[in-house]
Amino acid sequence: MKTENLLDSHPLPPGSFGLPWLGETLSFLRQPNFIDQRSQRYGSIFKTNILGQPTVIMLGPEANHFILSSHVDCFSQEGWPDTFKSLLGRKALVLQDGEEHRRNRKLIRPTLHGSALAGYLTTMEQVSLAYLKQWERLESLTWFSELRRMTFEIASILLVGGKPGEDNDHLFKWFCELSQGLFTLPIHWRWTPFGKAIHARKQILIYIEQAMLQRQKTPTQDVLSLLMQAKDETGQGLSQEEIKSQALALLIGTNSNTASMLVCFCMALAQHPEVLHIARTEQHQIEQTSIDASLSLEQLKQMIYLNQVLQEVERCYPPVGAGFRRVIKPFVFNGYAVPSGWNAMYSIIGTHTDSRIYVEPTRFDPDRFSADRAEHKKMDFSLVGFGGGTRNCLGFAFAQTLIKTFAANLLRHYDWELLPGQTLTLNRIPTAHPRSGLQVKLKKLEAVT
Ligand code: HEM
Repeated sequence: MKTENLLDSHPLPPGSFGLPWLGETLSFLRQPNFIDQRSQRYGSIFKTNILGQPTVIMLGPEANHFILSSHVDCFSQEGWPDTFKSLLGRKALVLQDGEEHRRNRKLIRPTLHGSALAGYLTTMEQVSLAYLKQWERLESLTWFSELRRMTFEIASILLVGGKPGEDNDHLFKWFCELSQGLFTLPIHWRWTPFGKAIHARKQILIYIEQAMLQRQKTPTQDVLSLLMQAKDETGQGLSQEEIKSQALALLIGTNSNTASMLVCFCMALAQHPEVLHIARTEQHQIEQTSIDASLSLEQLKQMIYLNQVLQEVERCYPPVGAGFRRVIKPFVFNGYAVPSGWNAMYSIIGTHTDSRIYVEPTRFDPDRFSADRAEHKKMDFSLVGFGGGTRNCLGFAFAQTLIKTFAANLLRHYDWELLPGQTLTLNRIPTAHPRSGLQVKLKKLEAVT
């Protein structure tokens, strides 16, 4: 059937556009169960109006397969909110399409994999251990903000050659302001979150520009330097604008998402001592190390149970709740037609709670990812915390290495206790984290002999 006829022969998806102009934006930003409530009422595809756009939200592995694999030609990356696009910059990989995306993904890939990644491990471990040592001296700590600081320090050193100290503190402050503006109303006044975020973006770009000038004189081994040296098959590299945008976007991807996954990992293990016990036993079986011994990529691969725990954290608390697209060709899904010009969102949270795939989806159960059960393999695109298809997360290996390095050291050398009287309900914006920020007391374990 011709695409223009689809709209005549099929109804639009069920749902509501909400209020004029605002649509359902405020509920979307503020209600953690926005998608859950509507999918219970309307099913696996429904319409709404959020962030200034008529939008269709689609849930489940079939929807992910449709958007991320079988019908990619119906979608473009234009669908990310205007605030997100303005702050990342049009040249960021996540916002590029077609040939430009394919070429740039190939150019950026080696900077986050293989020998480059192996070279980042020592910094990841040294910074993690330094933070753990600082935190053990505190009476209590609010872990999310500290983990954001730590992951930012690692990211800024490895991506743009940031130096711990005053420089990095400025960069981190701008970075937090930028993150606050990613998913908000696009009102550009000096005092609005978006206005402050635009200012912060300019400051970070100035920092990156200066770092690029230094690397032109003296190349280094960080991602920025590798991006500046990268060449495609015709000998062409990335433009200055692209390098700046890509570096900024990589910083955002690393910091907000990785800190989110780490804080949810720490929360889940504090709530499930039986899981913590198995994860710690595995660490002791891999190798009895002293606090100063370093981990290898080979050892990280042996952490099978830790991997299952992290998959369960990804399932239950995905840092990114959804992926946005713009519909560029009308399509029909589950009997409903969606016109071009609308936005489409694949819901990561909605997929991860699908009871057709996950047994008792509300239960925290890392064993569901064991080789015997492998619930996520029943259907493709069932675990999509890092996206899927040709646009899956390019930083997956980098994030996994960072998270496992930190988690292994935490399990081997520390215990932690949740402080009473805190609210652990999840905030989802800009990335998932417990509302209290996770207040804990960290205790050093006696060395195992
Ligand atoms: C726990 C940490 C992370 C999570 C949960 C995460 C999640 C995601 C998701 C869901 C996507 C797909 C978005 C879409 O479908 O449009 C994505 C894309 C991407 N991520 Fe990550 N990410 C993480 C860490 C990182 C890190 C550390 C980096 C870089 C150092 C990174 C770089 C990227 C890039 C470049 C893309 C765009 C890929 C493309 O469009 O081809 N991410 N990420």
